[in-house]
Amino acid sequence: MIYFDNAATSWPKPDEVYNEVNRVMRICGNPGRGSHRMAIESGRFILDARGELCSLFNIKNPMRLIFTLNTTDSLNIALKGLLKTGDHVITSGMEHNSMIRPLMALKNKGIELTIVKCNEKGNIDIDDIKKAVKSNTKLIALLHASNVIGTIMPIREIGSIAREMEITFLVDAAQTAGNYPIDVEEDNIDILAFPGHKSLFGPQGTGGLYVSDKINLHTIKEGGTGSISESIFQPDIMPDKLESGTPNTPGIAGLKEGVKFIKKIGIKNIRNHEKKLIKRFLEGVKDIPNVILYGEDNAEKRVGIVSLNIKDIDAGEVSYILDKAFDIATRSGLHCSSLAHQTIGTLRSGTVRFGFGYFNTENEIDKAITALWKIAKETV
Ligand SMILES: Cc1ncc(COP(=O)(O)O)c(C=O)c1O
Repeated sequence: MIYFDNAATSWPKPDEVYNEVNRVMRICGNPGRGSHRMAIESGRFILDARGELCSLFNIKNPMRLIFTLNTTDSLNIALKGLLKTGDHVITSGMEHNSMIRPLMALKNKGIELTIVKCNEKGNIDIDDIKKAVKSNTKLIALLHASNVIGTIMPIREIGSIAREMEITFLVDAAQTAGNYPIDVEEDNIDILAFPGHKSLFGPQGTGGLYVSDKINLHTIKEGGTGSISESIFQPDIMPDKLESGTPNTPGIAGLKEGVKFIKKIGIKNIRNHEKKLIKRFLEGVKDIPNVILYGEDNAEKRVGIVSLNIKDIDAGEVSYILDKAFDIATRSGLHCSSLAHQTIGTLRSGTVRFGFGYFNTENEIDKAITALWKIAKETV
């Protein structure tokens, strides 16, 4: 199988990840709960994973990073823990449902929302963000890169505006964590939501949320934390405040190995490899008759995600043929992002999405190009 669905979840994972999940499942107790050796050792897996992630994103205080189930979980904890009736939020016309749906739910409860339009290549005009700011603007919430067409947002510049105006800046790094440099200090990020299971190579059921120490989120769930157990109230200390219940210790230990693997290879090398794949793919498909490509032509401006359609063939059918006849895994449809499809004009058709990852090769890209030539020929 040639796996081009890394934007949904990465596959394969580095061997170290599989081995660590297996090892830890066999030896783990409940971290932070109990004083026997197995519990203490399990606490260390979590602590080490926190440390690895913090150094990857330049987070100074590891206690400000919590583990979650996935990006969706992180975004819900952040948005619902931060916003209250009367607050104004600015977001973009490229957001994933995991951002826009919680925001729409909050809108029903009295927050104000401005969705800043992007152009058909997914680019946002920074001036439009500035113009949208009001006296009650509490938050700018933005995805780092589009999961439909890969366009990278200028988060550093937008973060700097947010900082100047004392507005909280939240970044959804679902498509960049692990394949593109992120530095919460340099990028002016106050809240960072990320998945463990995509480019960080962790198992599914892992994710994280960084919350700067300037921000105090309310809890959206309370429960056992293993700390301050004499109190019937949720502890106010981080990370316990936002991390209730037994964590996914084997998964988090696997994620730690994923991050170590990334550091060993180097984010820059991972990014360069993915850029090479994007460039080769775009070059190879651009002249295929009837192929419609979406997004930026320049690999510098996108992460390893390419969406396309073949005129007169349903996106689902193209994806089906790629799978059945060519053993190539892609994703078709709307990719949980109706806003982005409205923006790029594919709300009715959807797209066929190719999501490249570090383990993909140029040879695999060439096979996909050949397959698309063959499929498109049938329609000429
Ligand atoms: C931009 C973006 N945000 C949020 C999500 C949701 O991620 P998760 O599946 O980790 O909840 C995705 C998933 O593809 C995404 O691409």
